[in-house]
Amino acid sequence: MTATAIAATDRPTGIPIRRPKVDLANADLDRWMVPGDPLFSHLLAALSAAFPNGEDFFVESVRNYRSRVESDPVLKARVKGFIGQEAMHGREHRALNARLSALGYPTEDLDRDILVAATRLQKLPKPVQLAITAASEHFTTVLARTVLGDEQTRETLFPAPDARLLITWHALEELEHKDVAFDLLKEVDGSYALRVLGLLLAAGGFGTALARGYVRGVVADRRHLGFSALRRHVRNRRKQQMVSGRSALAILGYVRPGYHPRHMDTDALVVEWRERLGPYVTTNPRRAS
Ligand SMILES: [Fe+2]
Ligand SMILES: [Fe+2]
Repeated sequence: MTATAIAATDRPTGIPIRRPKVDLANADLDRWMVPGDPLFSHLLAALSAAFPNGEDFFVESVRNYRSRVESDPVLKARVKGFIGQEAMHGREHRALNARLSALGYPTEDLDRDILVAATRLQKLPKPVQLAITAASEHFTTVLARTVLGDEQTRETLFPAPDARLLITWHALEELEHKDVAFDLLKEVDGSYALRVLGLLLAAGGFGTALARGYVRGVVADRRHLGFSALRRHVRNRRKQQMVSGRSALAILGYVRPGYHPRHMDTDALVVEWRERLGPYVTTNPRRAS
């Protein structure tokens, strides 16, 4: 299937629910997810810890408008796909986070902090909550594009097969539903000010909690930050693209007037990774118990 074919046929409702065929609660991981690099290992653990409650917030912010999309069958189906995918992401990251906690990462503390941040943000007006979700989806789209598009990033940051399956599956689905919250926000209130406010609040609420959780983990493991760990981190920083000036610029692209998620062309990546991940995921799994 070509990228054009995706745009024409799959995009409106092509948001299937899948589940990776791996037991993440017992994921085969070493103490450092990124070998010899506690700094990147803690960053990835913090990201994973932030997802479940963060994604619950995204789901709720979209669910607030369920009745509004009733009259639009296409948008309704896309919203349904978005909710289903995000709910499954939260579930699988929770399983991984339990494993990370057993390995010594403070995922439970960060999980709680993100819940506190989400609860605060849920006191804001519903359109603002949706704007926070649309901005957060831009952030995950940028990360997903890098993870799926750059092999060296995957090899450097996700050498363990279980973690790599989780992240590539999650990244594929982030690209598949990248524009759902944004299009819904445009229906609700397409103002530029609200869009930018969403980005600021996402960074201030979720971003701050995530950064705090990361620092807390690193400080707790500071005895492991010797010369060789720092040297390994510097080398890894050069090899990967996820934490980079390019990613920062792409994230800032959200404030460009006229921006739309579909300006980031990720169709070819979606085609490629649907194929590559096919044998490793279950599509349309029975409702999670
Ligand atoms: Fe997600
Ligand atoms: Fe998402």
